[in-house]
This record gives sequence, C-alpha cells and structure tokens, in this order.
Amino acid sequence: MALKLGVLLSGSGTTLQNILDHIDRGALNASVCCVVASRADAYGLVRARDHGIPDYAVPRNAYPDGAAFNEALWALLRQHEVDLVVLAGFMSLLQVPEDFHHRIINVHPALIPAFCGKGMYGHHVHEAVLAFGARISGATVHFVDGEYDHGPIILQGTVPVLQDDTPDSLAARVQEKERELYPQAIALIAAGKVRVEQGRVIIEGAE
Ligand code: GAR
Repeated sequence: MALKLGVLLSGSGTTLQNILDHIDRGALNASVCCVVASRADAYGLVRARDHGIPDYAVPRNAYPDGAAFNEALWALLRQHEVDLVVLAGFMSLLQVPEDFHHRIINVHPALIPAFCGKGMYGHHVHEAVLAFGARISGATVHFVDGEYDHGPIILQGTVPVLQDDTPDSLAARVQEKERELYPQAIALIAAGKVRVEQGRVIIEGAE
C-alpha cells in the first residue's frame, strides 16, 4: 500500500510539486491525500486542486490561540487517515500530539543545528550563511517535535558555498539538494526502513 501523505504548507508549494512529480513518474510509492495551508492565499493550494487533491485553508489568524489552530490541523489529518505529515514550507509552530509522534517530517534549507529556528526560513537562512562566511551549507530532513526546525535528523546533504554567491544563487543550489533528499527520505519511511532509537534515527541498510 502506498504511504498516505498529508502535506502542510504556507507558500508557493514548489516542495509539494516536487513530491507530486516524483509520485507521478513512479519514483515514489506514496500518495498525497490532502494539502492544508496556514494561509488562504498559499499557491500550494492551487497546485493541490489542479491535481485533484482535497485542499484546505486553516488560517492561523482565524483561531484564538496555537492550541485551537493545532486541533483544527490534526482533526483534518486524522480525518484523511494520513500515515505521514510532510511539512513543505509550513511556517507555523506545531504542537505534536501523541498519535503523530515521529510521523511528521520537515525539510530545512541549511545544515541543522546551524542557521535554523524561529525566523530562519527562505532567504533569511541563506543571507545568514553568507554573512557568517560558512564554506558549506545544505539541506536537512528531520522528524518534527514541538520546536522550530528541531527533531531527529533523517538525511542531510551538503552543497558548497561559493565566494561570489548571492542568497538567490545559494538558495537555488540548496533547493536542488532538497529536491533530491525529501523524496528519498519519504521513500525510506515508506519502505519501513526508518526508526528512532534514543532520539537518533536509524536507517536500515545505511552505514
Ligand atoms: C523550502 O525551501 C523549505 O526548505 C523551507 O521553505 C521552502 C518552501 O518552499 N522551509 C523552511 O525554511 C523551514 N524552516 P515552497 O513553498 O516553494 O515549497
């Protein structure tokens, strides 16, 4: 049975598109059963609709507090019986309920624990990497706990930072790495090869 994914996003949804492209060309044994956005104007919702996938806007500002917002999200995801929640540029903090423990993943455009946390998203990340003078950056796929960009790391991949890089040129290189790693991580989970032991991820067959 294909792994049932619920995708949460807040923006343009290129991460969602990459996952859909992998599924469509038979490179990923999964299906996206719902897409939920924290903003009604997120273009990712249009991508979902174009694909015939149920899409929902659950705007953060329509709820009195984080707990009520989270309850609305989890209710939808339970209703669709998702196996795995995939964050795809989702910008609100999650409160992870017991039944979703180690069933939520995120991709971050840097090498966690560097250049991550609240406010570290999109071009802010790459600007910080360049300002610091780091020689390498990359992408991280990790399980999600209740903190921003935090939880057991599943996969990381590096890219060089070049001396004439701009935030845009570095973002493009990192994004290419994300496009490769995220479907790879989902495929490993779909194949039942990923488990968490004492806060660390063990991948069956990896060195
Ligand atoms: C992705 O590049 C992802 O790495 C980043 O948001 C982007 C979403 O793009 N996530 C984070 O920064 C998480 N802290 P998209 O809306 O085009 O899919």
